[in-house]
Amino acid sequence: MSLKLGLIGHPIGHSLSPWIHAKFIDLAGLNGEYKLYEGDHEKLPSVIQHLKNASIDGFNITVPYKQVIVDYLDELDKDAEILGAVNTVVNENGKWKGYSTDGEGYVRSLVEPYPDLLHPGTSVLLLGAGGAARGIYRAIVQKGVKTVDIANRSLDKAEALLPLNDGSSSSRVMSFLEAEQHLHEYDLIIQTTSVGMKPNIEEQIIRLDNLLESTVVSDIVYQPITTRLLKDAKDRGAKIHHGHSMLLYQGQLAFEKWTGKNLEVSHLVDELEQKLR
Ligand code: ATR
Repeated sequence: MSLKLGLIGHPIGHSLSPWIHAKFIDLAGLNGEYKLYEGDHEKLPSVIQHLKNASIDGFNITVPYKQVIVDYLDELDKDAEILGAVNTVVNENGKWKGYSTDGEGYVRSLVEPYPDLLHPGTSVLLLGAGGAARGIYRAIVQKGVKTVDIANRSLDKAEALLPLNDGSSSSRVMSFLEAEQHLHEYDLIIQTTSVGMKPNIEEQIIRLDNLLESTVVSDIVYQPITTRLLKDAKDRGAKIHHGHSMLLYQGQLAFEKWTGKNLEVSHLVDELEQKLR
């Protein structure tokens, strides 16, 4: 049997997912393909029909289709429903089921190097409240940590994340200025905005003057690999977590949903970093 997988989105020409999943298919000892299906909104219905006709086993879906794909699904996982976004579709005996694996994939990438980080005493600060922050916020809250505070430029967007909290953690919304003043209270800081991304690599979302060396600073930006925020955190003796590992573990989780195989992928983190350089 040959596995049929792929990615729908626009633009996706530079996606690393084909490389990642080719590695996974090899590691799993399977045969198969992971193809890119790129197209604008008008092309989406015909792309979907093509994938249905081809009996695709599963696919990822990225911007700008994470919401509209719901109209084409037979079933929706509870987290995907609550988040209102799908990034992974699984063909379950001819029925398409949508999942949101971005947040949980991110958490996997974090606990791989820091296995003791998330526990009932952990205080987390989330920077940003966009699409990426939503999935991460929910996944971290579900780990039952003590606090997940949200700092964002527009406070109303940060407030909009709060209903994703099922009550497992306490949460406050704050400005970046307030976050800077309270930085020493956090065990983990997660940067989810586009600030610091190429080509604006000199930008940094907050000042780290109050950062403790014991804190882990994570930036989901992966171009550049080491953002100014991460460099600053490292210079101050704190621990860091790079965004590119998230791509790998989000892929690992999607592959697990498609094949049932939970692959050991940590050895690919450095290879992926080389590809991004
Ligand atoms: P994504 O899906 O990648 O998270 P998004 O939904 O557009 O993208 O969210 C972008 C996030 O980056 C938001 O938190 C946004 O802040 P606002 O909610 O205030 O718009 C944040 N962001 C983008 N550019 C920013 C900047 N220059 N300064 C501060 N925050 C910024």
